[in-house]
Amino acid sequence: MKGIILAGGAGSRLYPLTLVASKQLQPVYDKPMVYYPLTTLIEGGIREFCLISTPHDLPRFRQLLGDGSRFGVTIDYREQEKPAGIAQAFLIAESFIGKDSVTLILGDNIFYGGDAFGRAFGEFKSGATIFGYHVNDPERYGVVEFDANGQAISIEEKPKQPKSNYAVPGLYIYDNTVLDIVKNQKPSARGELEITDVNVSYLKRGQLRVQRLTRGFAWLDAGTSSSLHEASAYVQTIEKRAGVKIGCPEEASFRAGIMSLAQLEETTDKMPNCEYRAYLNDVVAEAKRLKNQK
Ligand code: DAU
Repeated sequence: MKGIILAGGAGSRLYPLTLVASKQLQPVYDKPMVYYPLTTLIEGGIREFCLISTPHDLPRFRQLLGDGSRFGVTIDYREQEKPAGIAQAFLIAESFIGKDSVTLILGDNIFYGGDAFGRAFGEFKSGATIFGYHVNDPERYGVVEFDANGQAISIEEKPKQPKSNYAVPGLYIYDNTVLDIVKNQKPSARGELEITDVNVSYLKRGQLRVQRLTRGFAWLDAGTSSSLHEASAYVQTIEKRAGVKIGCPEEASFRAGIMSLAQLEETTDKMPNCEYRAYLNDVVAEAKRLKNQK
């Protein structure tokens, strides 16, 4: 399965922070925001990535993430000239997707806890899989309604009167027919190719699976100044308490079996002396200790 990280958009809600660096490059506590969605997909075993951003910001993402080899993955880059909708990402990345299935994650969505996505990638065969997460303010999101048997029966984008409290987070899994679906899709009233319309198409075909994320799972979006601050505070609290990092793609790659211990050590050795390197040194030391015990 291929992975797309969508990291474009105007970023106007974070002005003036976004005058020089786009939203997904802003720090969330101790790392750039894009590290978190990248880590989420690597944890799920995705190895081939395409990052989509604006012509202005794309060079900075390249500078930050390179060809991905530092994390044991490959990263291609594609431009989205104008923010013409989340679903446009599939058209932009068509040659990257090829004949594969694909998962798309929004560059400002932060997930923490459990292995729901890894399992969903592993079990995925055809159609579409999306997720439902209970929130207080569903009107800000795509909203999914379930029947008494837990089957999804409707999905609406930012409804004024939401039919449930289940929002659709920004991680979507599709089979290759997503390309045909988007090619036949019309832009919405706001001029965008809507991701919710893609999901409605799969729902109408009877090929949409909506998995509810459990309560222990955290989903944060970092699209406004307050939610950015809250996301940083959340990450700091967990990291300090547990002594583990959230959103560390090098560690995720090692734990997912993508990078070997030797590769992780090599990557870590190239880092400047900093807290991030010290953390990874500890991960390497612990893994060596466990290996020697065998
Ligand atoms: O966060 C989950 C929500 O994301 C879903 O529940 C909604 O169904 C979905 O429409 C989307 O809602 P948003 O209001 O968050 O969409 P927004 O336009 O803010 O775009 C989300 C991210 O994707 C944002 O970081 C910018 C990026 N983006 C967006 C568009 C429309 C692009 O890179 N290109 C685009 O054309």
